[in-house]
Amino acid sequence: MTKPVRVAVTGAAGSIDYSLLFRIASGDLLGKDTPVILQLIEITPAMQALEGVAMEINDCAFPLLQDMILTDDLNKGFDGANLALLVGGMPRKAGMERADLIRANGPIFTGQGKAINDNAADDVRVAVVANPCNTNALIAMHSAPDVPNERFTAMTRLDENRAKSQLAAKAGVAVADVKKMGIWGNHSNTMYPDFFNATIGGKPATEVISDHAWLKGDFISTVQQRGAAIIKARGSSSAASAANALIDHVRDWFTVTPEDDFHAMAVPSDGSYGVQEGLIYSFPVRCDGKGGYEIVQGIELNDFSKEKLKVTEAQLLEEREVVADLLT
Ligand code: NAI
Repeated sequence: MTKPVRVAVTGAAGSIDYSLLFRIASGDLLGKDTPVILQLIEITPAMQALEGVAMEINDCAFPLLQDMILTDDLNKGFDGANLALLVGGMPRKAGMERADLIRANGPIFTGQGKAINDNAADDVRVAVVANPCNTNALIAMHSAPDVPNERFTAMTRLDENRAKSQLAAKAGVAVADVKKMGIWGNHSNTMYPDFFNATIGGKPATEVISDHAWLKGDFISTVQQRGAAIIKARGSSSAASAANALIDHVRDWFTVTPEDDFHAMAVPSDGSYGVQEGLIYSFPVRCDGKGGYEIVQGIELNDFSKEKLKVTEAQLLEEREVVADLLT
């Protein structure tokens, strides 16, 4: 029988994980032949709620679920983990500035990075969802010196999916026809959805959609502000779509990316496209099917795009300043 994959998930009693854990246990993440062990991590006050989630998972009688560990101990939670999905964090409270949120979350990711470093499996791969996810991933990466840097990623796949859905609706085509939807930079309202290099039915999106004012204006702002629009409409933040995007992010990390496509992943910059090395920055990437990926090279960026890349890079540099003391 195939060896089970150990999936450690933080924030396990939270909203996103309520949509995520059942899909992992049912085989949506790793396929229908791979058994899974869920290692569910929460803070102590949320352990009782986590027990309730675990009762529901048990009641699904998932054939692939071999074991489930519930814990508020990071060393136990990340022990032997092949995948570490860092979803839990401190939410933004009324009156909090972005810098306050970054400071409040920073120490969580030094602790988790260290626990991953000391306990996870040699092949561990990390995806950070909790916001500010790029900077949280940066902190975790710096706290895990024995884990190769390229194993740390942050999730911008929800932005890719949002952008694809907007382009498909505007063009009147199926979402599957939209490819090469790159997201650049920070998962925040400065992120840049690059429609210039996107394709629709194999043609440039700018040929299929003639309304270029919409592409440069409402399209970008709709994708950038989609999270806020969902909070306004639903009264709480995107959860099921974030869980779905995380499934896409991890599944596609282990899938060969088709030649005519790429995906958005925030990964450590190697200096490509002039982005400062070491920042966790969203690039178009292609994956090799074995857990490796490369930043796609040779993408043409016009002045409009170059300017957008700089704006979002500047925000990431500012965020890095705020947590500089946690990166030593
Ligand atoms: P939530 O507030 O419903 O759940 C968060 C959970 O994390 C809570 O159960 C809490 O007890 C737990 N938690 C807090 N500190 C923890 C720690 N140190 N260790 C383990 N667990 C901890 O929030 P929700 O809706 O599930 O969102 C989670 C995060 O995902 C938020 O930071 C949110 O901003 C972010 N997010 C990111 C998206 C992306 O595209 N990257 C999209 C949507 C949300």
